[in-house]
Amino acid sequence: MLNLVNRYAHGFVAVPVILAAQERGLFELLESRGPLSEDAIRLSLDANGGPLRVALRLLRSLHWLSRDDEGRYAPAKAAAMRRHIPRELLELYRFPAGSPQLLSDAAQRYCEWTPLSRRRWGLDDERDADLIDGVLLIPLLFALRGQGLLEEASQPLLAPLPQPLRGALLDLFRAKGWIDGESDKPAWTEVGRHLVERMLVLGVTASYTPLLARLPQLLFGDPRAVFEHTAMDAETHLDRSLNVIASGFQHEKFFQDFDAAIQAIFDRQPFEQQPAYVADMGSGDGTLLRRIYRHVAEHTARGQVLDRYPLTMIGIDYNMEALEVAAANLRADGVPHRVVQGDVGDPQKLERDLQALGIADCENILHVRSFLDHDRPCFRPPSRNGWRPAGRFPTKACSSPTTVPPSPPPTPSKGCTNTWSAGHGCPAATAC
Ligand SMILES: C[S@@+](CC[C@H](N)C(=O)[O-])C[C@H]1O[C@@H](n2cnc3c(N)ncnc32)[C@H](O)[C@@H]1O
Repeated sequence: MLNLVNRYAHGFVAVPVILAAQERGLFELLESRGPLSEDAIRLSLDANGGPLRVALRLLRSLHWLSRDDEGRYAPAKAAAMRRHIPRELLELYRFPAGSPQLLSDAAQRYCEWTPLSRRRWGLDDERDADLIDGVLLIPLLFALRGQGLLEEASQPLLAPLPQPLRGALLDLFRAKGWIDGESDKPAWTEVGRHLVERMLVLGVTASYTPLLARLPQLLFGDPRAVFEHTAMDAETHLDRSLNVIASGFQHEKFFQDFDAAIQAIFDRQPFEQQPAYVADMGSGDGTLLRRIYRHVAEHTARGQVLDRYPLTMIGIDYNMEALEVAAANLRADGVPHRVVQGDVGDPQKLERDLQALGIADCENILHVRSFLDHDRPCFRPPSRNGWRPAGRFPTKACSSPTTVPPSPPPTPSKGCTNTWSAGHGCPAATAC
């Protein structure tokens, strides 16, 4: 099931790349003049170097293009497959993930496309058909979820949807083995329920719908426009709230390793020397902070004396939307907390801001960190004199039209860890 879900996610990203490349004439170019180097392709298509490189890698990893020993690209599967993807599927990227509008405005399209999906889009290879299914299913599943239509209690299944949309979707789900039962009483199968319960694993991918809707601009126009911020400083290239909720959902199993570290720190006596605060830099939706607080309260010696030795969780994120979600989640769980805007690259400013919040004893903070290996300063071991910043790991380079020169590897940097570890150590979970 995980492989299938991953193919849906891959397809949701790959199909708009394929269609943008096709629209610009990449495949015709390679068929008529290939094989061609990346530079020759860039010049012929007037493409942005960085995004083009990523697109070519993506197409190659899907075996749509091949690359010879001299780095020249030629069409592989692309020649046969590209005609099977209805261009109109791109319309689905206009709807923000979870938008109920999809179910009304795209109803007719779903009635046309679901039979194509059932016939595997005319492709021989099931896995290729799954890629196209990803475009059809990800927006649909999030729209249904947003309306509470995937819940078991919502019986009969999808009943609020008008015909013929409901019939088309039930036929599709039945063909996939996600529902069974009499036609008037369809019910989720085990596979269907499994998918529905875990569909947030598709949420990070779905959160990038706004960026995927603007791929021609990213590849061939002014990419900076794709990464603009609104007047309220919200990012326009992704749905950050969905992103933090979905990444929090996925990270839970990695957090189990945190428990042992937390246990040791909060069993240690005397209590006076234990941390008074736990601060998560890049706290997202506050999942890790909630989990740590619950663990301390329920499983450690400190948990027995929280009334005398209270513990305050501090959510820090440079993203205000994420902070709002974190604050709401911590409040809902009754976890004592503060939230503050901060940047992993600027500990001094954070210290000043915490003092302004009334937290003067920063040495009593236990800093934790999880899944924040992006958009932070990198440090290189330069000399005996210690560590020095080697520039910022360039995620902002996504909005640059050119390729980015090789930079320090994005491994957890000792300099960064040292900066945050004074006092109690710095437990961190990370995945690259
Ligand atoms: C994947 S979430 C991690 C959530 C949280 N640590 C957890 O595990 O529950 C990453 C968060 O880091 C934030 N972030 C990214 N770069 C940052 C930076 N330079 N400084 C502070 N926060 C940052 C993002 O806004 C996002 O909310």
